[in-house]
Amino acid sequence: MVQALNFSSVEVMNRNDQAYIVKTAQQKDLVTTIEQIHYLQNLPDEIKSYFPEITEFNITAESVSYHMPFYKMNQLDDALLDPDCQMDEIHEALTLLIDLLFSHIYGKDSKPVPEDFVLKTHIQRMEKRIHYFLSQRPDLCRLILSPALKINGEIFTNTLPSFDFLLREKNLESLTPSNLSFVHGDLEANHILFLKQQGEMQLKLLDPRSTDKGGDFAYDLGKLFQSIHGKSHVIQRGQFSLKYELEKDIPEIEFYVNSGRPSEYKDLFDKVINRINERCNDKNWEKRTLFSEAAHFLSAPPFFLESDCDAAAGLYLQGILLLNDFMKNHL
Ligand SMILES: Nc1ncnc2c1ncn2[C@@H]1O[C@H](COP(=O)(O)OP(=O)(O)O)[C@@H](O)[C@H]1O
Ligand SMILES: [Mg+2]
Repeated sequence: MVQALNFSSVEVMNRNDQAYIVKTAQQKDLVTTIEQIHYLQNLPDEIKSYFPEITEFNITAESVSYHMPFYKMNQLDDALLDPDCQMDEIHEALTLLIDLLFSHIYGKDSKPVPEDFVLKTHIQRMEKRIHYFLSQRPDLCRLILSPALKINGEIFTNTLPSFDFLLREKNLESLTPSNLSFVHGDLEANHILFLKQQGEMQLKLLDPRSTDKGGDFAYDLGKLFQSIHGKSHVIQRGQFSLKYELEKDIPEIEFYVNSGRPSEYKDLFDKVINRINERCNDKNWEKRTLFSEAAHFLSAPPFFLESDCDAAAGLYLQGILLLNDFMKNHL
């Protein structure tokens, strides 16, 4: 994580042979972490067991911290990469997750949607993060600012020039949810823990990021799609090949993500889509989710600037591929 963007830390501690986690935050993460404590402490009883339990917390003007048990469970991003982890078990965990989300979370606390929701939530966030990425990686200036890129022999529109198209009234309208609701807010694979014990699947959803204003559930699902569709966890771990010739008129890039267990991933992804279709009556969910997924990729590079495998560039390129695919097939 980048120091300039991240002011929280998570430490494993031990007391009476019991491992527990202390999460501490300062500066810009102070308010978010107070909101997180509020979220976790005010969960409806029927879903409390799916989230970490706060055992103590401390809030001062400079710093906030809370304790929770250390859950020795499988983490979705690691499990997807572990050849010993059965896809059937991952599928069972995701089915339970989708059922939980649609039965107990997404329908709750319906809130109106601000008119500028898509602009603020996605477009301005991407814009801000891309400019920060550029400021930290001037060597990638042509990758980030060239109007078009040739990736694996095909021409793609770069991100900033795509915004004019995304911001057309008809497109903005089709990307705006009909209401906001209770959500998790940061449903990444590294926040999804699962474990099957004595025939029963357990889930813990870490690091929720939602306020009283609520959110679009497709933003949550976009985070989940980032791993089970966009393979963000693979890119984050440097399992991709990347070569570029940036000085050409249209920069030329070769970018291949190692797909690991391709047919198993595809099967899992198809099953997840089917389950969501069974549980969700919002016809527009998939379109907004695919857009959110691309936007999450394009907003991610600043958090991976210190990666020694250039994950920041890999995530950015995956975002361009996904955004182009989305604009071509869904707008
Ligand atoms: N209670 C927990 N039990 C097990 N692992 C945890 C727990 N809390 C956090 N982690 C691990 O630490 C990582 C970072 O924690 P998180 O709450 O997401 O902090 P941050 O706000 O820094 O993203 C998680 O992705 C997970 O791997
Ligand atoms: Mg986190």
